[in-house]
Amino acid sequence: MPNIKEMGSSPSLFFLNLGLAITPGRIFLSDRMIMKDKLVKIEEAAMQAVAEVVSEVELQQVKARFLGRKGEVTAIMKGMGQLSSEERPIIGALSNEVKDRLESAFSERQESLRQAFMKERLVTEQLDVTLPGRSQRQGYKHPITQVTEEVVEIFTALGFGVAEGPEVEKDFYNFEALNIPKDHPARDMQDTFYISEEVVLRTHTSPVQIRTMLEQPPPVRVIAPGTVYRRDSDITHSPMFHQVEGFLVDRKVTFGDLKGILTTFITEFFGQNIDVRFRPSFFPFTEPSAEVDIQCVICGGSGCRVCKQSGWLEILGSGMIDPEVFKSVDYDYELYSGFAFGMGIERIAMLKYGVNDLRLFFENDMRFLKQF
Ligand code: DAH
Repeated sequence: MPNIKEMGSSPSLFFLNLGLAITPGRIFLSDRMIMKDKLVKIEEAAMQAVAEVVSEVELQQVKARFLGRKGEVTAIMKGMGQLSSEERPIIGALSNEVKDRLESAFSERQESLRQAFMKERLVTEQLDVTLPGRSQRQGYKHPITQVTEEVVEIFTALGFGVAEGPEVEKDFYNFEALNIPKDHPARDMQDTFYISEEVVLRTHTSPVQIRTMLEQPPPVRVIAPGTVYRRDSDITHSPMFHQVEGFLVDRKVTFGDLKGILTTFITEFFGQNIDVRFRPSFFPFTEPSAEVDIQCVICGGSGCRVCKQSGWLEILGSGMIDPEVFKSVDYDYELYSGFAFGMGIERIAMLKYGVNDLRLFFENDMRFLKQF
């Protein structure tokens, strides 16, 4: 008998069950028997391990332990080289069968683990499709932004361009060039925040007139919306508020042009049927100057608390640009004339929407802001 291995003289009963080749006086166990025995044990151990795993990761580890490159079944297969040519096909076939059975056991277990996992997910990740959805909160433009854009739209439709200037402004642009010299009583009209002797928080958007005219020759047709600052605070005043400045310079511009443009704007903004009146006034940078009133939007002109029984509401200041202003920007005041106006955005927004306290615009109370 080829390849007989001597097993010693006192074999255990165990070997008797596993196919012993017994020769009188000595007991031999063939290599084939040893390998077959090993395979049986390996298969048993693998099947048990497969049954015990609780996750796919563990299953993969078990698979590697038995069928991987250094796995136990693989080791048997590699060891077949030692067998005789008669034994080799027998053990080869046997180990292939074991391998096939293990492989199908692995894939069955994998499938069952996967299904168990899905089942568990269905329970733990249950969705209540009847719950109300969480809606995305929609953002809105601030009413002051909305009104500013509306004003800009009306004027751009009339051919005006849009300009901007700095909020921290030089005294020269904010006052001096607008014909408001130092110590001029007109400076008292606008309680100013001073940064230094020569630098202020701009008290109005009128300095944009100066900046624009210094940059370009006539004709100009510009509006300038922006934030302005004054030391003032009550239900109709805020230390920070907004204005729109507008001005137009060309040859032969008259007060009639001013009236036409502003009346067009007012009827576009407040409605066709509103009455407008121009009332003489004074501004250092215009001559003549006029304040513009509209028929009270609250009472329709019959007199109420808002219009102080007058039936009229003041909405803007305006006038023909003073030659002194043209001098400071080097425009030829004999050849050119122009008009200018400035209005408070909060004021026209309050009138248009019937808001009775200007401070509401800046308190950021959503109950107020949502209404626009
Ligand atoms: N700047 C003025 C103010 O803030 C408003 C104003 C009045 C602007 C008349 C103008 C104007 O351009 O012509 O009170």
